[in-house]
Amino acid sequence: MSGPSGALTSGGAAGADGLALATRGLRKRYGDRRALDGLDLSVPPGVVYGFLGPNGAGKTTTMRVLTGLVHSDGGTVEMLGKPYKRGDRRRLFEVGALVESPTFYPYLSGRANLRELAASGAPVPSKRIEEVLDLAGLCDRADDKVQGYSLGMKQRLGIAAALLSDPKLLLLDEPANGLDPAGIVAMRDTLKALASQGKTVFVSSHLLAEIQVMADMVGIIAAGKLVREGPLKELLSMQGVVKVRVRPDLMEAAIKTLTPIAPAEHFTETDRDEGWLAVHLAADRAEEVNRTLAGSGIYASGLESGNDLEMLFLELTGGHGSGGEGAFVGLGGPNGDDAHDGGASAGNGTAA
Ligand SMILES: Nc1ncnc2c1ncn2[C@@H]1O[C@H](COP(=O)(O)OP(=O)(O)OP(=O)(O)O)[C@@H](O)[C@H]1O
Ligand SMILES: [Mg+2]
Repeated sequence: MSGPSGALTSGGAAGADGLALATRGLRKRYGDRRALDGLDLSVPPGVVYGFLGPNGAGKTTTMRVLTGLVHSDGGTVEMLGKPYKRGDRRRLFEVGALVESPTFYPYLSGRANLRELAASGAPVPSKRIEEVLDLAGLCDRADDKVQGYSLGMKQRLGIAAALLSDPKLLLLDEPANGLDPAGIVAMRDTLKALASQGKTVFVSSHLLAEIQVMADMVGIIAAGKLVREGPLKELLSMQGVVKVRVRPDLMEAAIKTLTPIAPAEHFTETDRDEGWLAVHLAADRAEEVNRTLAGSGIYASGLESGNDLEMLFLELTGGHGSGGEGAFVGLGGPNGDDAHDGGASAGNGTAA
């Protein structure tokens, strides 16, 4: 198993600070819209790093900057131990990427497209083409023209292309897009296997459930900024949340009252105007929270508890599940069986 801690010692692909990928203060504007607002990411080698954020958070923009598709307005990127600057696109031979819908020659077969790619990029043995076709589950249709591929098949071919040069670092923007459940499971297994071989997989998703089942490390972004980063385990350990609504002017008093049962850093004011307070405690302590408040004469007008990372995610990214600005509207219940693209889709940059 490649845990983040063990992985830190693995492999010569890391920088002096031991990271496979690092961004510092990365900024990017589109007109007057700020897509990245000082993004700091620290991705250790040998892990699947889940890059998570709601629609419009800046994931694709980050991927574009990392792959040289757009230039940042400021900040630095370090990949595989070396600074990555403008004009360094050849460096990307060490890096495999799937960002946005990959372009293929429609009149060539999947296999022929990979051969073309192999001829124009880093040299790869021809048996590698067969390997990646197999990994992507495309062997059956490898000789069919790409113009006859389904969306998911094109996505599989994109993943195969990203894996072609056997890269040390893999950047995948929403790779699950368009894949059927079997395809998603296979991809997840492939990515985990790559990480266990010491490769670094940086994979974005707006779906928590997706990241939760495959990532070792998670970075959550909202509005172009990192809001939380760390081992998935750590994040999961703070997943229990009890949300309580009190009169806004009693918020401070409520925190004080609850401090004996939850340390100060376990509180988040999710919506001060509305009086919503989140306490990071196991969900089954909701009653205790209620009782403690009532004992001090603070009566809750709302109480919610959950045991899913989703609540933490909503909180961190500014959503409150109420459909407000930045909220992750349309996500399903706490079991993580969500409505996939049913969110407030501002246009998914990776859709074909
Ligand atoms: N080419 C562009 N021109 C103008 N604005 C853009 C462009 N690309 C992205 N943006 C804006 O930058 C912000 C970040 O977008 P980005 O595509 O990086 O988000 P994302 O996290 O990938 O979202 P999603 O989950 O929907 O794919 C959004 O506000 C978006 O509208
Ligand atoms: Mg995107």
